[in-house]
Amino acid sequence: MTYENLLLEKENKIATLYINRPQALNALNRETLLELTDAISGIAQDDDIDLLIITGAGDKAFVAGADIAYMQNLSAMEARSFAALGQQVFMMIETMEKPVIAAVNGFALGGGCELAMCCDFRIASSKAKFGQPEVGLGIIPGFGGTQRLTRLIGAGMAKQLLYTADVIGADEALRIGLVNSVQTPEELMNVVKAIAGRILAKGQAAIRLCKAAANEGLQTDINRGMTIEVDAFGLCFATADQREGMTAFIEKRKAGFIGK
Ligand code: HXC
Repeated sequence: MTYENLLLEKENKIATLYINRPQALNALNRETLLELTDAISGIAQDDDIDLLIITGAGDKAFVAGADIAYMQNLSAMEARSFAALGQQVFMMIETMEKPVIAAVNGFALGGGCELAMCCDFRIASSKAKFGQPEVGLGIIPGFGGTQRLTRLIGAGMAKQLLYTADVIGADEALRIGLVNSVQTPEELMNVVKAIAGRILAKGQAAIRLCKAAANEGLQTDINRGMTIEVDAFGLCFATADQREGMTAFIEKRKAGFIGK
């Protein structure tokens, strides 16, 4: 599939996916979500890729939301189906085995904030702006915002943002735990790639089991979560990376992981 609304770069085991509709501040229409579905399933299956970075093309926006012009005249069932399509692809991103980092380079509003939230974590440019402006349009978030924002930053702060439609800057997003750090626009991708490099230097089988255990544990109670963790811990001992990691430590050398 050739993409009209995405750019995909692959280098050193890292895929960087740009949402690429700068003329509409990278707003997500149906075509973009369909292309995203194709791109994510390809990256998930690509053995040359161990980590995904999602960002926005241009210097103004990560994603300024779902495409309002596209949504304006939808019927109720069409709107439901559009929300379901977005939820489906965002769930694919959240549950894909490989780590996904959002490099939030500008506006991350509505569906853009929701896209950032389905990634494992978010690093922001100082120019980034976050918010769920949907109630100002007479709608509610539909790509998971009412669910992920409450889980990520707590119900009280999430409800304030959801009800007021306030747009917040990167420093406030950092303060409330929506992003992990704030970088200058020039440094953003370098910092994200440096973090990616530190992740890629570790055992990828273990990274994937960490992600699955953390994600599955968040959906359940602590007792079940602990069982998920012991099972995943045990599974590590069926991997070459565990043998290599521990042998390298004992032999006082750097581990050469193979991700299996
Ligand atoms: C469609 C959009 C858009 C969007 C921006 N554009 N956001 N088009 N959908 N979400 C378009 C503008 O119409 C304009 O097109 C061009 O991008 C540049 O935007 P401007 O408004 O001229 O830029 P600026 O004045 O700098 O303002 C930036 C902005 C503003 C503050 C981000 O564009 C804005 O408020 N956008 C909407 C944000 C929003 O409400 N997002 C949530 C959407 S609802 P032209 O052709 O005029 O140049 C949502 C629901 C998700 O996301 C769940 C769905 C199921």
